[in-house]
Amino acid sequence: MSTVWTSRYAQRTKNLKSSAIRELLKITQKPEVISFAGGLPAPEVFPTERFREACIKVLNTQGSQALQYGATEGYEPLREMIARHTARYGVKAKSENVLITSGSQQALDLIAKLLINPGDRILVEAPTYLGALQAFNVFGAEYICVPSDDDGLQTERLEESLRLGPKFMYVLPNFQNPGGTTLAEGRRHELVLLAERYGIPIIEDDPYGQLRYEGDHLTPLITLDRQNISGDDGYSTGNVLYLSTFSKTLSPGLRLGWIVAPPEVIAKLVQIKQGADLHTSTFTQMVAHEVARDNFLDEHIKLIRKVYGERRDVMLNALEEYFPPEVSWTRPQGGLFLWVTLPEGVDAHRLFEAALKENVAFVAGDSFYAGNGYAAESRRHFRLNFSNAQPDQIREGVRRLSVAIKSQMAGLQPEAVR
Ligand SMILES: Cc1ncc(COP(=O)(O)O)c(C=O)c1O
Repeated sequence: MSTVWTSRYAQRTKNLKSSAIRELLKITQKPEVISFAGGLPAPEVFPTERFREACIKVLNTQGSQALQYGATEGYEPLREMIARHTARYGVKAKSENVLITSGSQQALDLIAKLLINPGDRILVEAPTYLGALQAFNVFGAEYICVPSDDDGLQTERLEESLRLGPKFMYVLPNFQNPGGTTLAEGRRHELVLLAERYGIPIIEDDPYGQLRYEGDHLTPLITLDRQNISGDDGYSTGNVLYLSTFSKTLSPGLRLGWIVAPPEVIAKLVQIKQGADLHTSTFTQMVAHEVARDNFLDEHIKLIRKVYGERRDVMLNALEEYFPPEVSWTRPQGGLFLWVTLPEGVDAHRLFEAALKENVAFVAGDSFYAGNGYAAESRRHFRLNFSNAQPDQIREGVRRLSVAIKSQMAGLQPEAVR
């Protein structure tokens, strides 16, 4: 229906679509559905009591500051804390390199506003994070896609794409969403070197890096960047913008993320953020700082690793037990997701319909691909989340899913193979 509004929507809104995942979350919230769809943390690990104490302390001791407008850059002690944490991984970040954002989703939006003109090509992984595509699409981005394998983005296929002159690269090196894969150490070096050689900046999105369940932490791209390494006065001229968030370590409802960037870029992003929301909630930032301090965050992350690591193992074992041998999946060393590949001819969307009848849900793979080059390939994949459901639900959900898969493979209704 055309209204006075529809004819007035700006050009940039014409191709916008709702996130398939956010739409899906509405269906999958029914209690009888076991959902592997969202990227939701386990509510059992939210440190509610610590938050309660922190809220009371902030209000009792700094109430007038907490409820007041604050600086766009963010709450200074929180910026310092984030700079210190980031510096552990060899990044010479100081608080002036940190901009607090309303979730790292806002960081993606601010970066898109800063860098993308209509028609600019952005180099992304195939598949990549759907929310980044949503943020970039508003500004008329086009895409150059580089495929990933079990070791992350295939850097041997990068050079031909870099020659096409992308505006920047958007990369998820750790436990990628949706693939669950991690960019191998050698490829990290190669990627940073190639980026420098071709003069293409990198946006490194790292919400999951802390959630590693096995193996050693790999060097972030921002640390490998020569500009970062050579600048004695701190991280002043780097080629990499680094994004992270408290969503997966403390709580996504906080809406607290950050960007680490050279001061010149921070200053520009601050101007853009002023137009968006003036600043991220002062109260929330002060509470998060109070919660995280005195080593609490590090200790809490250990607990999350234990809980999610167990859930990952339960899912991997259940997949091994129930799924037919023609189906394969990634084995993530951390993060929240794994990525399933169906045999040729089995369509993830049709499977989704069948799975819903079995009261189990996932996200079909095609949402995670930019552009049209992967239309057929994308329909053979889907993403599974293992952080949110309880272990017994994970097993039962995988069993139900296997019924739906077998039915699709046999071209039968689910009832027939029970
Ligand atoms: C790769 C990636 N980037 C960014 C985000 C957004 O996170 P936030 O809750 O900090 O906005 C997510 C959330 O799932 C994500 O997976």
